[in-house]
Amino acid sequence: MEKKLLPPTGTFEIAPSILSADFANLQSEIAQVTDAGIKIVHLDVMDGHFVPNITFGPPAVKWIRQCTDAVLDTHLMITDPQTYAPEFIKAGADHITFHIETVDDPMAFVDVLRQQGVTVGVTLNPKTPVKSIEKVAPLCNMVLVMTVQPGFGGQAFMDDAAQKCQQIREIVGPDVRIQVDGGIDATTVATARDYGADTFVAGNAVFGQPDRAAAIDAITNALNE
Ligand code: DX5
Ligand code: ZN
Repeated sequence: MEKKLLPPTGTFEIAPSILSADFANLQSEIAQVTDAGIKIVHLDVMDGHFVPNITFGPPAVKWIRQCTDAVLDTHLMITDPQTYAPEFIKAGADHITFHIETVDDPMAFVDVLRQQGVTVGVTLNPKTPVKSIEKVAPLCNMVLVMTVQPGFGGQAFMDDAAQKCQQIREIVGPDVRIQVDGGIDATTVATARDYGADTFVAGNAVFGQPDRAAAIDAITNALNE
């Protein structure tokens, strides 16, 4: 299956996380955000080991793939991404983000992922220093800066973690997306943008709201202020 590419850099993109969606109605949930112009849907995969929560695996991604043409941005919060990433790619993931804390040779893993046709992201927990991704970040299509401790939606945005976007922008230049994830809403998104982020995961601030189009508008307006 042809993989979908992340939009070229130079635009702001909101990537709603289905973590806060109604899992019994994912087709309609996802349609509500793509009808509102969303191009990237964020899939939070948790294994109950790397993070203290469990979400879903490749079979769910396979069904999600059937119901949308959006870029499936797959955030693997799992201890062993090297074993499981190929399953997510076969299921229809377009983009794989792995945690630097989970891989011994990240540069080699980026190559392995690329050979399987996906775009690649690396991410780091709030307490993990930028130095840990210094070499691998420029090889990626996107760097994800965690602005909460991963595991749960609806947590408060960590400003000090978001500040890492500034250093990362210096390392990667303008052609790599910088994504923030955790506590993004209409009140925090402009701060993350000012630090250099261009891609904004929002779970609770989109799928936790009754009117998803209005929620996306509110974040977009805050971004464009
Ligand atoms: C956190 C996940 C996030 C989460 C964000 O572990 O990686 O993607 O869903 O949720 P909000 O936007 O509710 O903080
Ligand atoms: Zn995420």
